[in-house]
Amino acid sequence: MPKHILLGVSGGIAAYKACELVRLLKKQGHEVSVAMSRAAAEFVSPLTFQALSGNPVLSETHDGAAADGMAHIRLTREADAFLIAPATANTLAKIANGIADNLLTNLAAARTCPLAAAPAMNVHMWRNPANQRNIAQLTADGITVFPPESGDLACGETGEGRMAEPATLAELLPDLWTEKILRGKNVLITAGATFEPIDPVRGITNLSSGKMGAALARACRAAGARVTLVHGLMQAALPAALHETVSAARAQDMYREVMARAADNDIFIAVAAVADYTVKNAAAHKIKKDGSGTPPVIELAENPDILAAAAALPHPPFCVGFAAESRNVLEYARAKRLKKNIPLIAANDVSLAMGGDDNQITLIDKHGETALPESGKDQAAAAIVGRIAHLLDEG
Ligand code: C5P
Repeated sequence: MPKHILLGVSGGIAAYKACELVRLLKKQGHEVSVAMSRAAAEFVSPLTFQALSGNPVLSETHDGAAADGMAHIRLTREADAFLIAPATANTLAKIANGIADNLLTNLAAARTCPLAAAPAMNVHMWRNPANQRNIAQLTADGITVFPPESGDLACGETGEGRMAEPATLAELLPDLWTEKILRGKNVLITAGATFEPIDPVRGITNLSSGKMGAALARACRAAGARVTLVHGLMQAALPAALHETVSAARAQDMYREVMARAADNDIFIAVAAVADYTVKNAAAHKIKKDGSGTPPVIELAENPDILAAAAALPHPPFCVGFAAESRNVLEYARAKRLKKNIPLIAANDVSLAMGGDDNQITLIDKHGETALPESGKDQAAAAIVGRIAHLLDEG
């Protein structure tokens, strides 16, 4: 759902990264308005943000939009969310203490929409007790702080203080306006393709991209859940701000990682495309053609069914499965839900689901079948999360 985002840029070298952030937010379909502090306008010209956002930029040096002198009030009334990125230690300190002595701090004080901040500063400024006190105060006041990342800093030092990447901020921002229907829930998700080695360089895998699993992880996180992702091979980027991300490419490893955590979770969503068989006689060294003309024989052994095993626990989490089929989709999905003894299964056709950005899912539970419209995987994931929350509420 497109929103109106007010982006406040304060004076730090990371201001240049805010340009990319505007581009990403626009790409997501949002309307973006930019407000800049005097110091920010020294780093990046307001004209750059005007061109990128397609909206007039409010700045203390060129206040073109403030004919009635009330632009700072009007802008926050129009916005669905206000993000300050980069947020300097100085700006954060003022907001934490209710000081409103320039454009950005006035906007923060006058806002009626949710506020988030992406701090950017030197590592020692970040760790400074006064700054940490301010961050704690901002959090207590309901302001979302997207923590800085560790790495090389513009000042030449290394440590935490780098502004979170624009792609991370663009991913996390929509969480601000997502209903917290899974608040307090722990969710375990498997995603991606498994890989069963044949020798050190070859293996059996499949075309799963991990996009649906990643979309579900983001949707659960946005809904307020603590998410653990156990994943195989992924073409999709790993979601940001998860509780734990575990890499386990072999089905056996994925099984072990899931079973070590399943009982501690309220919900388990098995999205990974798990190989039914592993290679029993995997070679320790690369298999060579021996010139005999006889191809090597690959012996297979059955893998454990991770989802069925989790569902068979004495106190199982609420288990959700996926049925990706190339024919008889609904019929196979219905049978799978009963066989694995799970309350909810999402049926989809592999021709659309595997690797693509879109999906058409039919949800099957004890109440019957709901065909979701064909949509992007993020939208499909949000609908699945809505259904899970509804079924959990019913008890
Ligand atoms: O039996 P089938 O592979 O068709 O079932 C698909 C569902 O079961 C998916 O949710 C998948 O993640 C899960 N699964 C599993 N472990 C397996 C096979 C499938 O968790 N070994």
